[in-house]
Amino acid sequence: MTTFSKGLEGVVAAETETSYIDGTAGILEYVGIPIGELASKSTFEETVFLLWNRRLPTKTELASFTSELRSRYELPEGIAGRIKHLPKDAQPMHMLRTMVSALAMHDPSPNDNTVEAARDKSLNILAQAPSIVACFDRHRRGEEFVKPDPSLSFSENFMYMLNAKKPTPAMARAFDICMITHADHGLNNSTFAARVIISTLSDVYSALTGAIGSLRGPLHGGANEGVMRMLNEIDSVDDAEAYVMGKLERKERIMGFGHRVYKAKDPRATELMALAKQLADDTGNTDLYLKSHAIEEIMEREVASKGIYPNVDFYSATTYHCIGLKLDLFTPMFALSRIAGWAGHVIEQLGDNRLFRPTVNYVGPHDAPYVPIDQR
Ligand code: ACO
Repeated sequence: MTTFSKGLEGVVAAETETSYIDGTAGILEYVGIPIGELASKSTFEETVFLLWNRRLPTKTELASFTSELRSRYELPEGIAGRIKHLPKDAQPMHMLRTMVSALAMHDPSPNDNTVEAARDKSLNILAQAPSIVACFDRHRRGEEFVKPDPSLSFSENFMYMLNAKKPTPAMARAFDICMITHADHGLNNSTFAARVIISTLSDVYSALTGAIGSLRGPLHGGANEGVMRMLNEIDSVDDAEAYVMGKLERKERIMGFGHRVYKAKDPRATELMALAKQLADDTGNTDLYLKSHAIEEIMEREVASKGIYPNVDFYSATTYHCIGLKLDLFTPMFALSRIAGWAGHVIEQLGDNRLFRPTVNYVGPHDAPYVPIDQR
């Protein structure tokens, strides 16, 4: 019995206890907890613990998980040295994919696929990926690397290593909310890629490297950079109408809208919209927020009836811009957070593995003649 669904739409390919999505009602839960609850009450570290253990930690567990994570911020010397030799014009997502892959060569047992080893490797990657991004950004600016500060949280330390300056509590909290809201999302394309790779019993580094490659596509996590480019192309709020209508008439996609699963507003977009508004007001970027809001209203009027609403990438663009991040770091930010979800799924897959191996409908010819090369 085989069925074919282009793009695997509607196909159930795995079971998970990490995240639940109701695309019609616009609900996202991590281990049963609504995303809005986590965004307002939790921290990224606690969210990661939740995704990897499928329960909230006690105070002691959270303290020990956090201190373990912090003790691993520092990059192996070989990795820091490699970053210094990378081309300064390399694209950060290509850089991140390459350097996460390179971390395997600094692990004495990269192929250990016990669940315990997978957790340990995931913790390393989670702690070191932000250091990789921050060091690369400093390298391309010709700045010295900043040593990580283990007294700082995941979000604070990343911003500190990037800017050589501790972030304000408001900026660090905004960044943490972005990390929480992007951490996991069912069997999205990159998570599926990670699960497919680990299902061969390859290794955690290969699974996460493949997932980073998937995420950078403009139809997936790369859309947040597309949103920012679009906002930059629109001079003022008054120009939004002509811009959006022109694109829709030319059958072009508006980045940050539409989703395979959500046919209602993505609940992460709701969380990030509030954050974007606040940050835009606080940082003198109100115009950016107003342009985004105008685009949302036009899209609501034109295409909401087709189930096309803002997705997570739409307001994350304004949010990251207001936090002070460069455009080409937006998708890497998504990756830093989604490492939590990818790793959670890899751990889950290893706990009850079966090789992914779907079939394909062959639609080519049969019994074709082999024509010798000099007769073709
Ligand atoms: N702008 C305009 N029209 C759209 C958009 C959009 N952003 N998204 C979908 N549509 C239209 C399509 O043109 C199509 O219309 P038609 O039926 O008249 O031809 C219809 O909606 C269905 O589109 P599909 O591509 O079949 O839907 P699919 O489920 O494959 O697409 C996707 C989902 C890829 C996310 C799509 O909505 C898209 O390209 N969005 C823009 C990119 C984006 O924001 N990606 C981020 C997604 S969230 C994430 O991955 C983190």
